Amino acid sequence: MASLTNLTRTYENTCPAPSDAGTLRIRGAAAEVQEGSLIIKPVLVSENSQFGAEVHGVDWSRAISAHVVKQLVELQDKYAVLIFRKTGLDNARHIAFAQQLGKELEVNPFFYGKQNDRVGEPSLWDVGNINLDGSLVQPDQRRWQHSLGNALWHTDSSYHQQRSKYSLLLSHGNPVKGGSWTHFADTRRAYADLPQAKMEELEDLVIEHDLWHSRKLASPETYSNPLPHELALKPPAYHRLVQTAPDGRKTLYLAAHAKLVLGRSLEESQRLIWELIEHCTQPKYVFSMEWLDAGDMVWWDNRQSMHRANPYTTSMTARDVRRATVIDDGPLAYGVIEQERNAAI
Ligand code: OGA
Ligand code: MN
Repeated sequence: MASLTNLTRTYENTCPAPSDAGTLRIRGAAAEVQEGSLIIKPVLVSENSQFGAEVHGVDWSRAISAHVVKQLVELQDKYAVLIFRKTGLDNARHIAFAQQLGKELEVNPFFYGKQNDRVGEPSLWDVGNINLDGSLVQPDQRRWQHSLGNALWHTDSSYHQQRSKYSLLLSHGNPVKGGSWTHFADTRRAYADLPQAKMEELEDLVIEHDLWHSRKLASPETYSNPLPHELALKPPAYHRLVQTAPDGRKTLYLAAHAKLVLGRSLEESQRLIWELIEHCTQPKYVFSMEWLDAGDMVWWDNRQSMHRANPYTTSMTARDVRRATVIDDGPLAYGVIEQERNAAI
C-alpha cells in the first residue's frame, strides 16, 4: 500500500482576517428576512446559492413547537447551516431539540460511562478541550491528537454505514480568549461550479470513508496504528460521492475521512479527494462562524456542507462545546451496500 506520509495534512490555527473578527463574515447583499416570528440573516449569498443563516426569534425557554420545527427544517434545507445566539439551552433541552429533528440520535462510541465522561450524556459528544478533572487537554494526550482530525475539512459520521444528517454544536461556559471559530463550506455551490467533464467523471464514484484515515492524516505518529479496540469500533463505510441535497441540487459528499475511490489506488484516490476538498473550500464557498457567547449553537447539515474546527493550541483557554448528532433516516442514509460496491469496481 502507498505510504501516507506524503499525504499528511494539517492546518494552521486560522481565523478570519482581523478586519472581519468579532462577527460572521457576511458577504453579498444579504437582506434580512422575516418569516412569522423568525428573523433570518443569510451569511454567504451568491447568484446560485444561499449558504448559512443566523436565525433570531426562536423561544428556547420552552419546548419548540412542531410548527417552528417545520419552519426551521425548511430553512435548514435551504441554508445548510443555521446559527442561533445565546439560546440558554442546557444538555437536556439540547438533546430534546435534536430529537425533534430525526428518529434517533447517534450514541458516541467513545462514551465509557457517566463517571468517565465530563458531559455525562452518551448522545452528546464532548468536543471541547477540558478533561474530566477540569484541567485542559494537553498535546501528550490521545484525546488532543484525536481532536486534530476535526481541524481537517470534514462532514460528521461519513464513516458510519448509516450516516448522520445533522449536527448541533452548543457552547457552554465562557468564550475562548483569543477567539474561537468553526468554518463551513458550501458543497452544493462548489459542485455546480465544476466543469461538465468533471461532473461526468465523478457521477458514479463510490468512496470508502474511514475515521482512522483522517486521524492518521492529522496526527500521523499517534494514529499510524490505531488501537485494536478503536479499529473494531469503527470499520470503514461506503457512500456515493455525488448526491442530491434536500433542495434537489447536486452536492459532493466529502470528508477528510474519505480514503479510497473504489477502483482506484490509494494515491490516485487521495489526489482526487483532496483536489475536490480544496475546490469546495475556496474562500468564495466558505464562511467562518465565531463563537461569541455561552449558549451559541450552530446546526449544520452534513449532507450538503463541510466544516472544520481550529486545531487545539496550548495557549487557548477552556472551550466547552458539545455536539448532538441526528442519524439520517432519508433515502441515502445507508450509503452503498456491498452488492452495489462490487458492481462499482
Ligand atoms: C464537530 C466539529 C467543530 C468545532 O463537533 O463535529 O467538527 O469547531 N466541531 O469544534
Ligand atoms: Mn465535525
